[in-house]
Amino acid sequence: MAKNKITPTNTEKKMKDNDFIVSKTNQKGIITYCNEVFMQMAGYTEDELLKKNHNIIRHPDMPKVAFKLAWDLISSGQEFFGFVKNMSKDGSYYWVFANITPDYDAQNRIIGYTSIRRKPNQSAVDTVIPIYKKMCELERTGGMEASGKFLFDFLDDNNVTYDELIISLQGA
Ligand SMILES: Cc1cc2nc3c(=O)[nH]c(=O)nc-3n(C[C@H](O)[C@H](O)[C@H](O)COP(=O)(O)O)c2cc1C
Repeated sequence: MAKNKITPTNTEKKMKDNDFIVSKTNQKGIITYCNEVFMQMAGYTEDELLKKNHNIIRHPDMPKVAFKLAWDLISSGQEFFGFVKNMSKDGSYYWVFANITPDYDAQNRIIGYTSIRRKPNQSAVDTVIPIYKKMCELERTGGMEASGKFLFDFLDDNNVTYDELIISLQGA
């Protein structure tokens, strides 16, 4: 469930070919920095974004397990790649190809995270839409355990790891 009261609409915004959406958070996912493109796409001012949880742009069509996977990876020092549907302040949506990496202090402790998103490959988005839809349906009945099982069974059936699938879909 989205944490805000915005009603999602069917209006899509597309990222420009050479744009990057950049944000940084603290260890808890509270936004500490966002670039101009982030504000334009999300439709919020800097004031409205800073100090807010990154789930402010959470879209209800995103399976929860995607974020669990992201947090499991980044909090253990690994990076996350994924296709994410986000929701703007006006309810419209935009797809991104996201990469999240941990930020470290001089003692090598994780002090926060940086996410950089670029325009996703459209055929990749078309591929993940039905998969995410299925995962959201499964989450409504069987929770993240069910959607996680579906995802890992899908990867097993196709004999790929999560990262291999995502990178091959984006063609990066
Ligand atoms: C650097 C960073 C970037 C994130 N970017 C997004 C994002 O673009 N969209 C999103 O829904 N969640 C993003 N998240 C995850 C959210 O913090 C949150 O875990 C997620 O939206 C799930 O919301 P929930 O925990 O309230 O269910 C990001 C987290 C981090 C650390």
